Amino acid sequence: MNMQRTKITVPSLADYKLNRVPLTMVTAYDSTFAAIVDEAGVDLILVGDSVATVMQGHRNTLPVSMDHMEYHVQMVASAKPKALIIGDLPFGSYQTSPRDAVINAVRLVKAGAEIVKLEGGIHSRDAIEAIVRADIPVMGHIGLTPQSYHRMGGNKIQGRQDGNQSGGRDRLLADARAVEEAGACSFVIEAVPANLATEITTASTIPTIGIGAGAACDGQVLVLHDLLGLSERTFSFAKAYSNLRQQSITAVSEYVSDVRNRSFPDESHSFH
Ligand code: KIV
Repeated sequence: MNMQRTKITVPSLADYKLNRVPLTMVTAYDSTFAAIVDEAGVDLILVGDSVATVMQGHRNTLPVSMDHMEYHVQMVASAKPKALIIGDLPFGSYQTSPRDAVINAVRLVKAGAEIVKLEGGIHSRDAIEAIVRADIPVMGHIGLTPQSYHRMGGNKIQGRQDGNQSGGRDRLLADARAVEEAGACSFVIEAVPANLATEITTASTIPTIGIGAGAACDGQVLVLHDLLGLSERTFSFAKAYSNLRQQSITAVSEYVSDVRNRSFPDESHSFH
C-alpha cells in the first residue's frame, strides 16, 4: 500500500490548502507505529508531547522533557517515513526565551524532526519568529493548549465566550493571525466550536489542522492510541477505528492460559 508515494515536503503543505485536499496527521512515538501509520498513508506524523499522558502515564503534558522528546523523535525518524515528521516542543523549552526556543528546535531537527510544533498565539509570536529565522519550519497550536493546563483549570474547550481574554473568541482569532504573521507554515486548532474553527480556517492562508474543531479545518489530527481504541479513556471528539485495547487483552490472556495449560509452545514452536 502506498509504496510508490514520494516524500511529503514542507512547501507541499500549501498545495493541500490551495487544492482543498484534507491533510491527515496522527501521533506516533516510536519506530513501529511510525512505520504502520506511514504505510497507511498519513501525510504528517506528530511526535506529540501527548507522549506524557499516552505513554508515560502522566495526568497532563507538563512533565515531558526535551530529552524525552528528542528520544521519541529519533525513534520515529528511524522508520524513515514518507510522511513529514513534526516534533513537539515540550513545556519549558520555548517559553523562557526566543533563544531557548531556537536551541531546542535545533535539537529536535537534529533528532529528525522536519517541522517543530509549539503552543500559543500572541504570546508565542517571538518564539515562532526566532525559530523561523533559524530556517526551521514551525507549526503553531491554538485553542485548547494542553501546556496551559493550570491556567485553563484543566483541558477545557476554548472560544465559547466572546472577548479578548485568554480563550475568548476574539483572542483566538488574534492568536491565529499572530501565528501566521510570525511565519508558521501551519497550525493546529484544538477543542474550539466548529464555527470558530471555520472562521479561522477561512481567514488563514496557511493550513489549519483540527482536533475537536469540526470538519472545516484544512486537515485533521488524532492521537493514534485514541484512533486505534488502545486508550482506556474515550473522548467525544475522537473516533476509534479499532478496538485494539480489548483485542490486546484477549490475545495476552489467551497466551497466559496457553502457557499455564502447556499448549504453548507446541512442536511447531520448538527447535530440534
Ligand atoms: O501532543 C499532541 O498529541 C498534540 C495533538 C493533540 C495535536 O499536540
